[in-house]
Amino acid sequence: MKTQLLSAQCSTDLTQAAELLKAGEQVAVPTETVYGLAADASNPDAVAGIFTAKGRPANHPLIVHLGDVASITEWATQIPDEAYKLANAFWPGPMTLLLPRAEHVSPVVTGGLDTIGLRVPAQPVLLDLLATHQLAVAAPSANPYKKLSPTTAEQVVHGLGGKIAAVIDGGPCQHGLESTIVDLTKRPFSVLRAGPITASELSAVLGETVEAPEQHDTVVPGNVGSHYQPNTRLQMVAADLSDLPAPHPEKRAALLHFGDAPTRDDLVCIAMPDDAARYGQALYHQLAQADQLGVDEIWLAQPPHGEAWLAVHDRLRRAVS
Ligand code: TXA
Ligand code: MG
Repeated sequence: MKTQLLSAQCSTDLTQAAELLKAGEQVAVPTETVYGLAADASNPDAVAGIFTAKGRPANHPLIVHLGDVASITEWATQIPDEAYKLANAFWPGPMTLLLPRAEHVSPVVTGGLDTIGLRVPAQPVLLDLLATHQLAVAAPSANPYKKLSPTTAEQVVHGLGGKIAAVIDGGPCQHGLESTIVDLTKRPFSVLRAGPITASELSAVLGETVEAPEQHDTVVPGNVGSHYQPNTRLQMVAADLSDLPAPHPEKRAALLHFGDAPTRDDLVCIAMPDDAARYGQALYHQLAQADQLGVDEIWLAQPPHGEAWLAVHDRLRRAVS
């Protein structure tokens, strides 16, 4: 299959993307978090094609992306008031709400679970596509299973080219890390996956504490320990680079660091932003760049701690080999 590169700037390309989706094809789409691999959520065969393209286990649930808040009633049931409070505060945006699923939802979408993840994405071209064509799309990150999530269309083609009908190129993603997942199916409410919106921000809107376990012990298929991995071995080093391994005569490494680069011929140095939001935006992209250098290892300087960095640490914990 030849994967078509469509432009988010071109209205005929977008019409074509909508037609492909309605015809049951898989199309990678830009979102404000990472690129997603979309298929019509009301067509189980189309959704099954996502799992085939990614090599993803069938019991890993998908997030359904909607064009407006009102559509959640078509996909979820027993929706608490808090869902609307959060939706009004953070949608369109990088937040996924976990709710009891509506009866008609195919188990292919939810991995057989009784719950469903829903979000209204903020990326304007995707949002417009969903709203204009009244589409709801199931979309996991557009990467082969366990690999780095793509934050550019080129990255999508690198991982899934030849396996999907098309990619809409909407430029680099704004956040660069996947959405915050909030479980509203049981109390106390909790964050199942850290993301751009923090538990404090969620709690402030609800006027009650949303829990944010630093390490998630809830076993959800798909919430697996090894994930988001570059092909090259990734290792953490101290932020001040005091424990860098000594140079090896035959090996080269990429170093993702803060501040000044050390002067060493065996290293390709990549400077990372020291602000959490900009770091998150750069992380997958720079790991993918480092991966393509053909180095023996990637060393990454330990980022700071604190709530703003939780999503970064969550992904890094799973990315180190
Ligand atoms: O930002 C994002 O959320 C991106 C973009 C494309 O929207 N999507 C994304 O999807 O990250 P994916 O499939 O790569 O990750 C979704 C995670 C999975 O790890 C899955 O375990 C969890 O969401 N999830 C989805 N539905 C769930 C459910 N019903 N119950 C528990 N976890 C669920
Ligand atoms: Mg993913």
